[in-house]
Amino acid sequence: MAYVNDNYLKLKAGYLFPEIGRRVSKFAKENPQAKVIRMGIGDVTEPLPAACISAMHKAVDEMASRETFRGYGPEQGFDFLREAIAKHDFQSRGAQVQADEVFVSDGSKCDTGNILDILGKSNVIAVTDPVYPVYVDTNVMAGHTGEADAGGRYAGLVYLPMTEANQFVPALPEQKVDIVYLCSPNNPTGMAASRSALEKWVDYARKNEAIIFFDAAYEAFITEADVPHSIFEIEGARECAIEFRSFSKTAGFTGTRCAFTVVPKGLTARTSTGEKVELHGLWNRRHTTKFNGVSYIVQRGAEAVYTPEGQSQVRQLVEFYLENARLMCAGLKQAGLTVYGGVNAPYVWLKTPNGLSSWDFFDQLLSKAHLVGTPGSGFGASGEGYFRLSAFNSRANVLEAIERVNKFVQG
Ligand code: MLT
Repeated sequence: MAYVNDNYLKLKAGYLFPEIGRRVSKFAKENPQAKVIRMGIGDVTEPLPAACISAMHKAVDEMASRETFRGYGPEQGFDFLREAIAKHDFQSRGAQVQADEVFVSDGSKCDTGNILDILGKSNVIAVTDPVYPVYVDTNVMAGHTGEADAGGRYAGLVYLPMTEANQFVPALPEQKVDIVYLCSPNNPTGMAASRSALEKWVDYARKNEAIIFFDAAYEAFITEADVPHSIFEIEGARECAIEFRSFSKTAGFTGTRCAFTVVPKGLTARTSTGEKVELHGLWNRRHTTKFNGVSYIVQRGAEAVYTPEGQSQVRQLVEFYLENARLMCAGLKQAGLTVYGGVNAPYVWLKTPNGLSSWDFFDQLLSKAHLVGTPGSGFGASGEGYFRLSAFNSRANVLEAIERVNKFVQG
């Protein structure tokens, strides 16, 4: 007799985005004439930067001849990419990250889940609420929680609300936690953590021997000068933080797949008998055992992001989506909605009008305006009454969506 991982049975019905997909498919099937605009999942719409394309073409050609063909690469990523990342993403901002602390992977979603492999079962884990659902679900799968209550909160997790009341800045936990997930710029609220907020977290983590999982997948969208791009810009963060980054949103790699995780040397956690162990070595062990590396072709594409042409093309791409976000914020405000985010992130977080629940607003917007967003409650109990719209779309769709929301709100 084989046994299942019972923890999976604690998971709520389905992952958020497939559930949205199901509702949208049903609507589209029943209303084939409707032109549905999808602003739900944050998936990019614009083609890859030309510099990445030509680097990948060149890499494909290298695969065609025996002299330049490559088989398995280093599991942690090729040096050319790890060095480019360390230099351009960190050292250029005064963050002391070295190339051998960078682990290249196929996605931050996977990395934020996989990291739990190297940490113990008894850690007290804090997440913000609302939150990127992967952080919660992977902890449920790993057996770090009890059952969910009626509001969808799992026993054993510490939830840190982020609402209008605290300007979406989560308070430090009242109890001692061992691990905290921070995402800045934030998915789903679109708000970014200030330097002083991050300093408080680093201070908290050092005092409590806690670890911060810092998800900076939306870093490229930061426009305000005082918002840190990396947790490692904060003094002392090397002692208490792991950072997750991705090329998905920065360079349009959602379908191409490339990301990386920084585990600083010297960052430790304790064994069950109290000795300190470096996490870098454990993550290296995990990564090399369970992963065979990102394809050479894709890593050459990612490396091209850091060339001068790549940088300017990526900037244009990011600016394009940010302009969408600016137009959305302005248009939705004009429609009388209360709107947050969209300045340092490609997400706009709005309050549902007339006290509608997040899912009711979703259903009405879909049936009446043929527009898809993400219900705030799908990101956690404190997301109830909010709604997320993604700015990853064509300009024409963004303008059309704003008009449809206006009409919908006018009733
Ligand atoms: C989102 O819509 O929240 C993102 O696309 C999710 C992700 O990056 O996995």
